[in-house]
Parts: sequence; structure tokens; C-alpha cells
Amino acid sequence: MSDTKITALANGPLMAEGTIHVTKPDGTTEIKENKTFLCRCGHSANKPYCDGAHKKNNFVG
Ligand code: FES
Repeated sequence: MSDTKITALANGPLMAEGTIHVTKPDGTTEIKENKTFLCRCGHSANKPYCDGAHKKNNFVG
């Protein structure tokens, strides 16, 4: 199994590098490869993924 690295980007999403398995509230699972950006501001219309909404909401974190 390869390592997966998670980095909190300044004022932006969590960046996952490597293979991750994302299970949604409806129980479906997606396997993401390479880089995946996960929302941590709460404003994305495409949760759990970042859609860039953190910028227009001036997310600080
Ligand atoms: S972190 Fe980008 S939309 Fe939430």
C-alpha cells in the first residue's frame, strides 16, 4: 500500500496526494487518484470536494 499525503493549503482546501477512497453519505464510494482537493471551508456546492467557493467567501484557515 502506498502512502497518501494530506496537506492543508493556506486559506483553501485539503489536498490529498495519492489514492483515497471517498464514501459519500448515500453510501457510494469513489476512488480518487493523484491529487484530490477536499473542501474545508463548508461553502462548496460539490462537497466533499472543493469547487473554489473558498475564494469568494474569503475563507481563512
Ligand atoms: S475549501 Fe474550496 S470550496 Fe471549500
